[in-house]
Amino acid sequence: MAQRTSQKLAARESRKGSSTSDEASDSLKARGNPATYLQAIINSLEDELMVIDRNYRIIQANEAVLTRHEKSRQEVIGKYCYDISHGLPELCRPPRHECPLKAALETGKPARATHTHIYYVRDEKQRRYLDIIASPITDSQGNVTAVVELMRDVTETKEMELKVAEAHRNLLALNAIATVVGQSLDLDTVLSNALDKTLKIMNRNTGGILLWDEERRMLCYRVHHGLSKEYVQGVCYRSGEGVAGRVAQTGESILVEDISVDPRVAYPGLINAEGLRAFASVPLRAKEKILGVLNIASHEARKFSSEDIQLLSSIAAQIAIAVENAMLHQEVQHKDEIRGELLREIFAIQEEERRRIARELHDETSQALASLAANLEAAAGMLPYGHDEVKTTLRKTEHLAINVLDEIHKLIYELRPTLLDDLGLVAATRWLADNNLGVAGVTVNLKTSGRERRLPPQLETTLFRVIQEATYNIARHAYAKNADITLHFKKRAIVVHVRDDGEGFDVEEAISSKDRPRGLGLLGMKERVKLTSGILSIRSRPGGGGTEIDVEIPLNYEVPSE
Ligand SMILES: Nc1ncnc2c1ncn2[C@@H]1O[C@H](COP(=O)(O)OP(=O)(O)OP(=O)(O)O)[C@@H](O)[C@H]1O
Ligand SMILES: [Mg+2]
Repeated sequence: MAQRTSQKLAARESRKGSSTSDEASDSLKARGNPATYLQAIINSLEDELMVIDRNYRIIQANEAVLTRHEKSRQEVIGKYCYDISHGLPELCRPPRHECPLKAALETGKPARATHTHIYYVRDEKQRRYLDIIASPITDSQGNVTAVVELMRDVTETKEMELKVAEAHRNLLALNAIATVVGQSLDLDTVLSNALDKTLKIMNRNTGGILLWDEERRMLCYRVHHGLSKEYVQGVCYRSGEGVAGRVAQTGESILVEDISVDPRVAYPGLINAEGLRAFASVPLRAKEKILGVLNIASHEARKFSSEDIQLLSSIAAQIAIAVENAMLHQEVQHKDEIRGELLREIFAIQEEERRRIARELHDETSQALASLAANLEAAAGMLPYGHDEVKTTLRKTEHLAINVLDEIHKLIYELRPTLLDDLGLVAATRWLADNNLGVAGVTVNLKTSGRERRLPPQLETTLFRVIQEATYNIARHAYAKNADITLHFKKRAIVVHVRDDGEGFDVEEAISSKDRPRGLGLLGMKERVKLTSGILSIRSRPGGGGTEIDVEIPLNYEVPSE
């Protein structure tokens, strides 16, 4: 170090003797001498200029060369250019650098290149980027005798370019991550897509994503690549345990050059068996919650740079959002499944209850009413002549009983028509058309297509309830003259269309209306169809355009055609 400093001082001293400004003013005075004037121009250049002979020795160097390298002229002249510029014992060659000097000497044509030069400024190592133009000097026979090398410092521009390229790379990477994680809401798909893409971007082949298991209060691998089963299945980490556990606890990334010798590792045996070296562990943080940890590793001690960790952190932030979304989706789906199960249960209990009430009404109430009517008729017949007033009252009461009986029969049908169980959907639909619409003055056109057949009881019940609600609504709200009901018995599905030419209504408004408990008919239809994996669509045009309800329920077996 002392030797180096004294060399520098010597260099400075020797340069003092011929300071640029002195020389320049001298040269201006001595304008008459072209050689001195030319030298002054060359020395006043900010760019470095050297003349190098065919043996790569420096035969001339301007002041800028001496200043940049902090050397005296004697220390530079006669030295090899690669020694001065790069501190190398031999000519630069690819892949390190393309030597423009060599190209100019060989081809006799100017050559360009951008080199990285290392300078020591006040003992500090500095990397500078230089744009080099090597122009050959030829003798009268056209032989190249030397080369003029002009070097311009483009470090600022180059560093800016590198920063822009880095930012561009990061943006592309983040965009790629956002695209892959946005393709699915399934947690495992999101995780494995995210990991694959991250490894590709980071140019590594080993890594994994661990998620925090709230129940077990542990961090366990959910997806991995390049790691053995023993490694990922063997361990889960408590908060604060090992590298991943620390990252989960502190929310701070950890970068390790060689994980095999890191004292923070929880299971060194496993790490050594995997042969892992460079290791980066970054938290997956959504809002203030740590959802897990992203680990990227290498089998060689290829250090992660601070740019790498910055990029990994941005990637992890994207992944965390996607993971949170997928988790929320999973939760909603789970709740939806439970809700579906409950609804199925409720509908089944409701049907059973309706069936029971219908049976009771049929077996007891209607039987009692029928015998009451018969007894009233018999009593009226038994009355002796002259009791006309009593007879009329008895006949009236008998008619009343018969009317109530008719109403009860209708109620029994609406509750659960035996027709549906006995004869199936088409017969029950015909009964609905007549009793709900016919009696309300709506002309109904009922059609069927395909091979009419019995369907699974639960499906028949669902479709019956949907058609029942649709016909109720037409009778109560539509003010329609005509209605069409069509049942298509397809091979793999059953399709029902119910149309009316009534007033129409705003479907969105009716479905989202908070005006409960009425207005549950349409929602009930949707829920019932959804439970059978079917689709229900309601289209209506308010202002007299009528309403169309289409239902399609898949049959999970194919019906052979006749
Ligand atoms: N075919 C139709 N034509 C015109 N308006 C209709 C028709 N079907 C439904 N509507 C409108 O949509 C609203 C909601 O229908 P929905 O069946 O959900 O409830 P509701 O019939 O009013 O009550 P309920 O819960 O007894 O069925 C109705 O109040 C009515 O205004
Ligand atoms: Mg209704």
